Amino acid sequence: MTNEAKLILDGNETELPVTVGSEGEVGIDISKLRSQTGAITLDPSFANTGACESAITFIDGEKGILRYRGYDIADLAEHASFPEVCHLLIYGRLPTRPEREGFRTRLTRHSLVHEDMKLLFEGLPHSAHPMVILSAMVSSLSAYYPEDDTPEEIDLNIIRLLAKAKTLAAFSYKKSIGQPFIYPRNDQSYLQNFLLMMFTVPSEPYEVNPVVQRALNKLLILHADHEQNCSTTTVRTVGSSGANLYASISAGISALWGRLHGGANQAVIEMLEVIRQDGSNYKKYIDLTKSKDSDFKLMGFGHRVYKNFDPRALILKEAADEVLENLGVDDPLLDIAKQLEEVALADDYFIERNLYPNVDFYSGVLYRAMGIPTEMFTVMFALGRLPGWIAHWLEQRNDPGTRISRPRQIYTGETARPWVSLDDRPG
Ligand code: CMC
Repeated sequence: MTNEAKLILDGNETELPVTVGSEGEVGIDISKLRSQTGAITLDPSFANTGACESAITFIDGEKGILRYRGYDIADLAEHASFPEVCHLLIYGRLPTRPEREGFRTRLTRHSLVHEDMKLLFEGLPHSAHPMVILSAMVSSLSAYYPEDDTPEEIDLNIIRLLAKAKTLAAFSYKKSIGQPFIYPRNDQSYLQNFLLMMFTVPSEPYEVNPVVQRALNKLLILHADHEQNCSTTTVRTVGSSGANLYASISAGISALWGRLHGGANQAVIEMLEVIRQDGSNYKKYIDLTKSKDSDFKLMGFGHRVYKNFDPRALILKEAADEVLENLGVDDPLLDIAKQLEEVALADDYFIERNLYPNVDFYSGVLYRAMGIPTEMFTVMFALGRLPGWIAHWLEQRNDPGTRISRPRQIYTGETARPWVSLDDRPG
């Protein structure tokens, strides 16, 4: 591989440096393109644009590879705990035994939220979607915990965010169903605490089912990072202006909410339910997907990066069978999902476009089996993605080469024209 590319524009040749990543990925560095040629690149939705160099996550979409800091996603989902993966993503290495204990203790001890924040919850309507509550509350943390500046202050705010996000997520749910908030307990682990805060009511005891806890651990790990996706790019973009951690992550939560991104897990279950009520008429919905007159899409299918299979979806499909069986749950939506997948994967439309189930296709069935309500699915995605967002925010902040994100555009509007007074305007 040469380390230079040549561009000929208007007969003038310009040499552009080439950057090669540790897995052999090739990027033509165009950072001096405009100053050298006067031209910019045009890449709507950034499908061919590397916005940064990053050492956090590697994806090979053609081969279905996903690795966090070099570790394969299947190994992490099988062997790691979610807090360990948080440590890995944020600090770059798996924790040693004492580091793991110290990290866990800090995540536990910082999980209470300022009492005044309960007043913020009170001010929101019960009908508020838990995602809007989570985004607002994470942004509000900036008001309660001071601006980060030194590495120690930044690290403390990172711990606070990881620790408090699960409390805020559980409070969002309790608020939406009108139940009292349940406080975190220091004698419980990260995941146990979250499940206790979600499902305990003051009137009766609740015991965390280990099957549910293991499934949640796997789900959160599988969602923990995915390099430059829409919400992570949002976090980086907001963070590039110097915005603090909480403000940047809150923006990422809002970006995740959309149906084409994290909101797809809720949309998948809603779609499967519609298909069930319509007599499981798969062909009708596959045809609808293909129809030029319809904007219907098979939710949980397709991916910008994966063109063969999404390794997270394979793990979740297997986990869904196991977890539902262990919990003794018989969910007709799992069968519908499997049959829909089978019909779609045999259809030329999906074959030609390399459309496969993505991480959101089976995650909702698992959340349902675990007793998590549909409106909380995207919040679960956000909890999982949190360490990834934090790792990217930190990596960018520590990179001396970081500049504010500020893309350009090709203007297609009116050219200069004279002012028209109100009396002279047509109509
Ligand atoms: N159902 C039917 N057709 C689809 C689908 C789908 N789910 N996804 C893509 N296509 C078609 C699309 O219409 C286009 O067809 P044509 O070439 O005839 O115009 C072709 O496949 C290429 O799709 P695209 O929209 O250009 O692909 P993209 O990379 O811009 O979008 C996507 C990726 C994930 C937004 C899209 O596949 C989609 O909308 N999927 C459904 C929503 C979903 O499941 N999102 C979760 C993504 S995974 C978790 C995450 O990262 O958030």
